[in-house]
Amino acid sequence: MTHPLIIVGAGIAGLWTALHAAPRRVIVLTGAPLGTGSSTGWAQGGVAAALGDDDSPALHARDTIAAGAGLVDEAAAHLLAEAGPAEIEALYGFSAPFEREADGSWSLSREAAHSTARVARVKGDQAGAGILAALIRAVRATPHIEIREGWRAAGLIPDLAGGCAGVIAFDADGLRHDLLASDVVLATGSLCGLFGVTTTPASSQGQALAWAARLGAVIQDPEFVQFHPTAIDVGRDPAPLATEALRGEGALLIDRSGHRFMRGVHADAELAPRDVVARAVHRQVKTGRGAFLDARAAVGAEFPERFPAVFAACMAAGIDPRAQPIPVAPAAHYHMGGIATDLDGYTGVPGLWAAGECASTGVHGANRLASNSLLEGLVFGRRAAEALKLTSARPITPLPAEPAPALPADALHELRGAMALYAGVERDGAGLSRLLTLIDALDDLHGQTDALVAARFVAAGGLLREESRGGHFRADHPATDIAAVHTRLTLAGANAVAPMTIPLAEPAE
Ligand code: SIN
Repeated sequence: MTHPLIIVGAGIAGLWTALHAAPRRVIVLTGAPLGTGSSTGWAQGGVAAALGDDDSPALHARDTIAAGAGLVDEAAAHLLAEAGPAEIEALYGFSAPFEREADGSWSLSREAAHSTARVARVKGDQAGAGILAALIRAVRATPHIEIREGWRAAGLIPDLAGGCAGVIAFDADGLRHDLLASDVVLATGSLCGLFGVTTTPASSQGQALAWAARLGAVIQDPEFVQFHPTAIDVGRDPAPLATEALRGEGALLIDRSGHRFMRGVHADAELAPRDVVARAVHRQVKTGRGAFLDARAAVGAEFPERFPAVFAACMAAGIDPRAQPIPVAPAAHYHMGGIATDLDGYTGVPGLWAAGECASTGVHGANRLASNSLLEGLVFGRRAAEALKLTSARPITPLPAEPAPALPADALHELRGAMALYAGVERDGAGLSRLLTLIDALDDLHGQTDALVAARFVAAGGLLREESRGGHFRADHPATDIAAVHTRLTLAGANAVAPMTIPLAEPAE
């Protein structure tokens, strides 16, 4: 069975790639039941695309490039923006229930750092769930796609000639299968589950980065993690999100005394770039002044109809957002960095491709523009599928391979706490060194597990980047360098990054 295309992951990037790869036979592996376990289903805001009369792909690309703080690949941003409207039409054709106005135009939300309303939405905050349901109906009805639900991928099989020869997977009964394939697409999503509090499924722990790196792939910009400023702060992990579209509708960020603190931070106040808002909210929380999203005037009584997911999450926590401000704090939300690919998703490792959040095409640079991620999954998933259709089967000779050991739960807990503390919204060299030292110690105890490899990339990239840019803020290097340079690390390169010599005293947290 060497000719099928294997796709690991069943979020928007994996399923869109699968749908467009015909006539190739596709096997999609998903450890969780379809529709669960991917960040796509949790997305609230929607899909950014230049759909309004006052908008254009050039303007969308310009906003994407500006948000990315010098590190966006401009060709990728233009591809993304130009393909956006047609991808929304295509999804609509698959019955994704995007909202439309009475005159037939798209209903569009405004989100931070977009110069106009540009986010196609589904029932207010139901975009991810609505889109995923439509994609699942489509893949289930498509003969060239075989979905293996409950099949957990656990690593890649190396090829004798170099590159990838397939995937090690465990089925729902825990039986191991070595699935040989001349092409594998990784579409496993995020690594934000490595952080103490995340808005993504907890299982999203950067597994694909570790697998690809072991086969020699380059990991690009791993230090760039986006923290969403308004995760609902009610002690839940993963934390429910209060979508940025609420701020687009006029919801305000206030402290415990009712002061609107973003006005003193940025001219765009609540709609400043996400990294700016995240740092301001982080400082509010850290200094005890508190941060709350006040949607009483902007949304008020219409909350249950207009933002049902946020409303339900608030009410479950005993907060009525029609009458009370919502307590918020930043949480790890999106990984801008990932497995370096070209614009067709090819990693440079023979037989290995990546799409969606686990890939780094360079389209997000140092800070992703809100709601560009679902679009990225569509645009670059389709491009990978188109390229893979033209790829003929390569001969493969699989080498013996074993999955990496798993990180025990208590060690994972310790790692997640350290990632949040030392590689969070604000970092510094001493903290990142403490994190690397912990990762070294956990490696010694448990081996190079996937979680530890992915965490190491973030820590090493953060330590090497002695500047602040986009989502990466170094308190000890607050300025931005004139030249914007990508971090590109192999596994050997990440392993060679040593902690700084640091004082023994604990940080004054
Ligand atoms: C949100 O709805 O605020 C999240 C949108 C995104 O992360 O792109």
